Amino acid sequence: MTSAPRVRKAVIPAAGLGTRFLPATKAMPKEMLPVVDKPAIQYVVQEAVSAGLEDVLMITGRNKRALEDHFDRVPVTEQLLEDKGDNDRLAAVQHATDLGEIHYVRQGDPKGLGHAVLRAKTHVGNEPFAVLLGDDLIDERDELLTIMIDVQAKTGGSVVALIEVEPSKISSYGCADVTAIDGEGYVRVNQLVEKPSVEEAPSNLAVIGRYVLHPSVFEVLENTPPGRGNEIQLTDALQTLATREGEGGGVYGVVFHGRRYDTGDKLSYLKAVVTLACENEELGSDLRTWLGEFTAQLPK
Ligand code: G1P
Repeated sequence: MTSAPRVRKAVIPAAGLGTRFLPATKAMPKEMLPVVDKPAIQYVVQEAVSAGLEDVLMITGRNKRALEDHFDRVPVTEQLLEDKGDNDRLAAVQHATDLGEIHYVRQGDPKGLGHAVLRAKTHVGNEPFAVLLGDDLIDERDELLTIMIDVQAKTGGSVVALIEVEPSKISSYGCADVTAIDGEGYVRVNQLVEKPSVEEAPSNLAVIGRYVLHPSVFEVLENTPPGRGNEIQLTDALQTLATREGEGGGVYGVVFHGRRYDTGDKLSYLKAVVTLACENEELGSDLRTWLGEFTAQLPK
């Protein structure tokens, strides 16, 4: 047991250009694409807040003003809804603002995920923190971040979230070689490789977009040269920490078996929207009926 401080801060990198969604993202951040009735980013902030992280830092960039607007008050709209007595819509609009304390810093040069995380150094300071990537949505009924926070407190190292993927898919992810730890629900990470080919991959365990990191990752990132894609990779910094002993060393993995919705490319995004819409309290029942009829008449 270590006396590591509890995690309080969440960092959400949101400076990506969203090129996979062009032209939809020509003038709008990809994080603002709606997933049923909320922008994707709101699910991520809600997840952080639900895990007890009320201090959120977003790493943004050019063209990302809509993110700040979304989490800010809209006095004119709020007044209009209040005057009309439309309390449900008013509550929905205010919900995004009431989530927590959100701070913003811009990434400047888009030099990769590791570089984005390094921009959080001053805000985070010397305490463990969570990183949530907006392309992955975790179902609110399934626990992940809170488990990772517990593992971080217990080990004093850094923690990644892992899922098992088809070997052919591993080249889209960071990949982890792990060893089980007797009697524990988490694993020790021996090695991490960013987006390996099937042949190079040490396993079929893929890193997904949730991390709980020891602050020593900042010093490591400062000394991490550009890696795959000529970008500063968080995976490479974690590889350094995985083999480091002593204060802040060690990387651990929590293998997630719950529901995850990938919104990182057009097809996955559409599947995520349909899946979540089918489960939506207000829309799900009608949508499922319609989908059944619609798919039944599709050509085989
Ligand atoms: C990033 C990380 C990768 C990780 C992935 C999870 O890649 O570099 O290691 O597996 O997120 O979503 P990206 O998808 O941003 O290219």
